[in-house]
Amino acid sequence: MRTLSMVILLAFLLLLSYGAANIHCSTVSHENRTDVHSLLEFKAATNDPTGALRSWNRRVHYCNWEGVICSSMKPGRVAALQLPGQNLSGEITPSFGNLTYLKLLNLSSNGFSGLLPPLNLLHELVLLDLSSNSFQGTIPDSLMNCSNLEGVDLSRNMLEGPIPEEIGSLYNLIALNISRNNLSGIIPPTISNATQLQLLNLQENQLGGSVPGELGKLSNMFSLGFGDNWLSGPVPPSIFNLTGLGVLDGHLNMLRMALPLNICETLPNLRILILGGTMLDGHIPASLGNCTMLQVMDLSNNSLIGEIPSFGKLLSLARLYLESNNLQGVIP
Ligand SMILES: *[C@@H]1O[C@H](CO)[C@@H](O)[C@H](O)[C@H]1NC(C)=O
Ligand SMILES: *[C@@H]1O[C@H](CO)[C@@H](O)[C@H](O)[C@H]1NC(C)=O
Ligand SMILES: *[C@@H]1O[C@H](CO)[C@@H](O)[C@H](O)[C@H]1NC(C)=O
Ligand SMILES: *[C@@H]1O[C@H](CO)[C@@H](O)[C@H](O)[C@H]1NC(C)=O
Ligand SMILES: *[C@@H]1O[C@H](CO)[C@@H](O)[C@H](O)[C@H]1NC(C)=O
Ligand SMILES: *[C@@H]1O[C@H](CO)[C@@H](O)[C@H](O)[C@H]1NC(C)=O
Ligand SMILES: *[C@@H]1O[C@H](CO)[C@@H](O)[C@H](O)[C@H]1NC(C)=O
Ligand SMILES: *[C@@H]1O[C@H](CO)[C@@H](O)[C@H](O)[C@H]1NC(C)=O
Ligand SMILES: *[C@@H]1O[C@H](CO)[C@@H](O)[C@H](O)[C@H]1NC(C)=O
Ligand SMILES: *[C@@H]1O[C@H](CO)[C@@H](O)[C@H](O)[C@H]1NC(C)=O
Ligand SMILES: *[C@@H]1O[C@H](CO)[C@@H](O)[C@H](O)[C@H]1NC(C)=O
Repeated sequence: MRTLSMVILLAFLLLLSYGAANIHCSTVSHENRTDVHSLLEFKAATNDPTGALRSWNRRVHYCNWEGVICSSMKPGRVAALQLPGQNLSGEITPSFGNLTYLKLLNLSSNGFSGLLPPLNLLHELVLLDLSSNSFQGTIPDSLMNCSNLEGVDLSRNMLEGPIPEEIGSLYNLIALNISRNNLSGIIPPTISNATQLQLLNLQENQLGGSVPGELGKLSNMFSLGFGDNWLSGPVPPSIFNLTGLGVLDGHLNMLRMALPLNICETLPNLRILILGGTMLDGHIPASLGNCTMLQVMDLSNNSLIGEIPSFGKLLSLARLYLESNNLQGVIP
């Protein structure tokens, strides 16, 4: 997807501008005692069954340790820590929060547990990926101190409690993925203050209340997912006004609504529409046959009535789910 590749591209740009110079540099001599102690304490508290941190010893300068990239602008300061999918586990030590020059942190797909690492002093952080671990507890308000954040992925953990209202103060946020946790409470309307957002994935949590109309202010939005929660009431009209929307996934909620008749006039770029199991009623709007970009349409497990309109113009449609409704007539 456009946004994801953007975020990954960003990661590469970061490496280029902050790290590459040091990767090939054999005469790294600058040391920051705070940073090296933070890393050593992190290592000491981490279970490493496959030896991913083998190079993390004092015979090697820490800027050359596996997964560590130092800044070329601030020599000796750790700018990136990337150890995805290394079978690491354990709790992250408080001194981790002293790596105050960190811009990129990627510990995805490991077995880290306990509370999220202290991030409140990591003001430089741009990309944070802690997805697919076993982190517990809440998303701390202090995350909002990291105002340079552009990409945050905390999906597939065991986080609970509410989404902090202050989330909207992350004005640079482009992508936020907090799916597959146990978050509860409402979707805070203040999210709409993060006006750069292009991707928001809140799926598979325990969120309640309604989908706030304020989300319709996020005019850069490309991918919006709030499926598999306890949300009720209609998707507000303002969301069907987000002209750039390519992905809308609200499956398994209690939306109890009819689709807007002019859905494809307002959402001409829709590629993926997933509203299965959301108590949709009324007819399938004929306008959907005009959403020529559609690849996936799931309106299954609802209470839709009437006839199936012509989808003959949807040449990209690869998956269509209309089962378990009250549809009638012939298959066009
Ligand atoms: C190391 O980084 C800290 C900030 O965390 C800074 O206060 C300190 O001056 C740095 N030390 C050196 C030797 O650069
Ligand atoms: C992680 O552990 C599993 C099972 O022990 C193993 O199959 C896999 O190769 C390990 N991954 C890495 C990156 O070492
Ligand atoms: C590093 O972090 C620990 C724990 O948060 C703190 O007690 C300590 O003062 C910090 N050290 C430095 C040099 O900043
Ligand atoms: C973190 O690493 C994984 C595995 O390499 C990658 O797929 C993911 O895009 C990275 N996350 C970020 C934010 O760069
Ligand atoms: C946010 O950062 C400021 C400035 O470094 C610091 O004084 C404040 O304590 C931080 N807030 C939290 C909640 O840690
Ligand atoms: C968000 O996280 C989920 C769960 O880890 C993952 O399946 C999905 O691909 C992620 N990205 C987006 C764009 O939602
Ligand atoms: C999720 O949170 C609810 C309370 O909000 C709790 O009853 C439930 O056990 C939690 N589920 C998991 C898998 O942690
Ligand atoms: C954030 O958004 C809310 C309403 O969505 C608004 O009332 C509030 O003033 C905004 N806060 C900031 C700091 O912009
Ligand atoms: C949708 O957008 C149009 C044109 O920008 C605007 O006039 C209208 O008020 C919007 N409707 C909603 C429900 O936001
Ligand atoms: C589909 O688009 C065509 C051409 O823009 C238009 O004439 C027609 O009325 C549209 N059909 C529906 C049902 O919106
Ligand atoms: C519809 O609901 C049934 C029963 O809950 C489920 O097995 C099926 O996967 C659902 N269809 C889709 C397309 O999600």
